[in-house]
Amino acid sequence: MELFTAIEQRRAVKHFHSGEQMSERDFQKMMEAVLLSPTSYNIQHWRFVRVSNAEVREQVGEAAWGQPQVTEASELLVLCADTQAWAKQPERYWQNVDAKAQGVLVDMLASFYHGKDQLQRDEAMRSCGMAAQTLMLAAKGLGYDTCPMIGFDAGQLAEVINLPQDHVIGMIIAIGKAAKPAGVRGGQLAMHQVLMQNYFV
Ligand SMILES: Cc1cc2nc3c(=O)[nH]c(=O)nc-3n(C[C@H](O)[C@H](O)[C@H](O)COP(=O)(O)O)c2cc1C
Repeated sequence: MELFTAIEQRRAVKHFHSGEQMSERDFQKMMEAVLLSPTSYNIQHWRFVRVSNAEVREQVGEAAWGQPQVTEASELLVLCADTQAWAKQPERYWQNVDAKAQGVLVDMLASFYHGKDQLQRDEAMRSCGMAAQTLMLAAKGLGYDTCPMIGFDAGQLAEVINLPQDHVIGMIIAIGKAAKPAGVRGGQLAMHQVLMQNYFV
C-alpha cells in the first residue's frame, strides 16, 4: 500500500473479527518495521508485551474497562518502555560504531538522563508514540486495522503484565481485521489552528 494511502486509511477501529488471525509472518514483518522507529540516542527503550494468552487477554480487557477491541483483536500489544534503559549497558545502542565514538555517546547519554525523572518518562512516552504510529501504518500496509488505547487502569494493567518497577506503559494497540468500519472522523482542526509560523501569536 502506498504510504499516503495508509496514512489516510488508518482509523481507530472499535470492533474486530475475533476469528481472524494475523499470520506470524505479518506480525514479524510489522514488528521489524516498528524496531526501525527512531529513539533519542538510539536507546530503543520500548518493550512490547504481546498478549496472546486468552486468560491474560480477559484480564487486560477488565483493566481496559471492558472495551471490546481488547478481546476481539487478533493481536494485542502493550507498548511499554524501560525508563532506565539509558543506564543498562548503553554501549549496545551503538554496537556498530567505533569504540571512541561509542564512548562519547555513552557519556552523553548518561549526562543527558541521569537524575532527570521527568525527562526519562517523557522520553518513554515519545518513543512509544513513535513506535505506535509505525506499528499502525505497518499494520495498515499489511491489510490490518488497529486501535490505539489509553482507556485502562494503568495500575491494574501493570499488575496483569507484571510490569517492572522501572518501566512505564505508553498505550495498548489492538490489531486485527475490522468487523465494523470506524465511525465518521471527529473532524480535523484547520491548519491555521495548529500550524504556527516561527512563534505563537
Ligand atoms: C493515545 C491514544 C489513546 C486512545 N485511546 C482510546 C481508547 O482507549 N479507546 C478507543 O476506543 N479509542 C482510543 N483512541 C482512539 C482515538 O479516539 C482516535 O484515534 C481519534 O478519535 C481519531 O480517530 P482516528 O484514529 O480514527 O483518526 C486513542 C487514540 C490515541 C492516539
